[in-house]
Amino acid sequence: MSGGGREPAERRPLIAANWKMHFRAGEPAAYLSALLRPAPDLSDRDAVIFAPAPLLAETARGLAGTGIAVGAQTTHWEDRGAFTGEVSGPMAASAGATFCLVGHSERRLLFGEDHAAVARKLAAAFRNGLRPVLCVGERLEERRAGHELATVESQLRSALEGLGQPELARLAVAYEPVWAIGTGETATPEVAGAMHAAIREVLRGTAGDVAGSGTAGDVAGSGTAGDVAGSIPLLYGGSVTPGNVDALMKQPEIDGVLAGGASLDPASFRRILDFGRAPSPA
Ligand code: PGA
Repeated sequence: MSGGGREPAERRPLIAANWKMHFRAGEPAAYLSALLRPAPDLSDRDAVIFAPAPLLAETARGLAGTGIAVGAQTTHWEDRGAFTGEVSGPMAASAGATFCLVGHSERRLLFGEDHAAVARKLAAAFRNGLRPVLCVGERLEERRAGHELATVESQLRSALEGLGQPELARLAVAYEPVWAIGTGETATPEVAGAMHAAIREVLRGTAGDVAGSGTAGDVAGSGTAGDVAGSIPLLYGGSVTPGNVDALMKQPEIDGVLAGGASLDPASFRRILDFGRAPSPA
């Protein structure tokens, strides 16, 4: 680790909402008019809303010109074909998405996405110009057995295998311990911060391997492998609320949050987006 602190010039905070399977046509418009009044100050942070596929276009229209991006919650590894019910990267992009989640634990655990599927989906995201937020995180039994680092490391390594530095430079990673998702139980800022530091080490190793293997060149103008790994934003997710976001964001290794339940209410997501600032007068 070099120094350990966040380098603000390299890693702008990224604040993300994951609406999961909520809202119907017409509802994003009302949500966004509440969220955007008054207009959020995004001069020192980035934001993205991961919307359900049928609401991507409506959400993108509502966010046009605001600086807040739209992302898909999952995309298929193929770009087109006979995959009933699936949504491809090009489809999501044509609806206005510029980000996508890859490997969310609900996809892994409820829909059987294994390491191989996650790796293919990550590659598809890059191929289609979407900025992926790769989700990793251990289950409670894995943490109880003391395997949390090994679990997260294997999720990371299997997903990142074969990627070059240009891809790593566009990656974001979200650490979402499964035991903290939707449970009201949050990793303490210290637990999350320690895992983020461990994830950063794996990323440095991966970026170093890529540079050392000679399979990919340096990112133009972005310097060394260490710089690339150091520039990847690491988000925390799992019961993030307006009440705990400030403490989480104070951790030098936490560069952002991915909020599920608390993002469903625009006032609550707005407070998360405004982390570190005094609440604005009503
Ligand atoms: P939660 O969900 O904030 O409701 O815990 C987070 C997530 O699954 O991304």
